[in-house]
Amino acid sequence: MARAPGFGVDIGGSGIKGCTVDLRDGSLADGRVRLPTPMPATPEAVAELVAAITSTFGWHGPMGVTLPGVLKRGIACTAAHLDPAWKGLAADELFSEYCRAPVIVLNDADAAGLAEMRFGAGRDHDGVVLLLTFGTGIGSALFIDGKLVPNTELGHLQVDGVDAETRAAAAARDNEALPWPDWAARVSRYLQVLEGLIWPDLIIAGGGVSKKADKWLPLLECRTTVVAAALRNDAGIVGAAAAAAQGRVR
Ligand code: BGC
Repeated sequence: MARAPGFGVDIGGSGIKGCTVDLRDGSLADGRVRLPTPMPATPEAVAELVAAITSTFGWHGPMGVTLPGVLKRGIACTAAHLDPAWKGLAADELFSEYCRAPVIVLNDADAAGLAEMRFGAGRDHDGVVLLLTFGTGIGSALFIDGKLVPNTELGHLQVDGVDAETRAAAAARDNEALPWPDWAARVSRYLQVLEGLIWPDLIIAGGGVSKKADKWLPLLECRTTVVAAALRNDAGIVGAAAAAAQGRVR
C-alpha cells in the first residue's frame, strides 16, 4: 500500500510537538520534534515555533494544529493555559501564514479522540465513548457511534464546588506531590459525576499520565470501563494530521 503521509502539531501548556504521520495506521512516520511552549505563550511566539517544527520536516501540505481550547471554524474562543491574546483570534489563518501551508485547527482532546477512535483504544467501539486527557488540564472528546461532538470541555465541570481539572488533572498530582491512590480518588470522584450525567459506554484515559496507567487505572472506582489510550501522548499529533487530511473544518 502506498504511504499516506499527513502532518500534525499538538500544542500543550508545556510542550509543542509535531511529526509526519502515516495515515494508514496512525504511526509517527519520523522522529517527533518537541519544543517547550514559550512563556508567555502569545500567538506569534507559538506560531513561530510551529513554523520551525514544520520546516524541520519540509512539510508544505495540509496540516492540523491542536490548541488547548474551544475552536469554532478556525477561531480560538478560549485558550486555557495559553496567553489571553488567543481569544477571538483566527488561529487557522495565523498558522497558515507562518507555516505557508493550509492549516486546520482543532481542540487538542478532540484530536486525541479522533486518533484513538480511528487507530487506538476506541476502534470499533460504537455507542457513547468518552476520551479524557489528563495533563496540564483535563480535555474531553465525546463520540456517539464514532461521530465527534466537538468542544465538550468536560474538564471544567464543577465537582464539589470547584472546576474539576484543578483537582484531577495530572498537573494537580505533580504540583501537590500526591501519592497515586490520593490522585486516583480525585479522578474517581470526577468520573462518578461525569458518568452520572452522560452514561458513557467506554472511557479512554489519555494524556502523558496514560503511560503510567498501571499505577492508577486499577485504583479507579466507577461504573464505566476505563481503558488506557493506545497512542499514549502522540494521539494529538495523529488526530490533527488525520483531521487535516480529511479537510475537516467546523
Ligand atoms: C481546556 C480544554 C483542553 C484541556 C486539555 C482545558 O483546560 O479548556 O480545551 O482540551 O484543557 O488541554
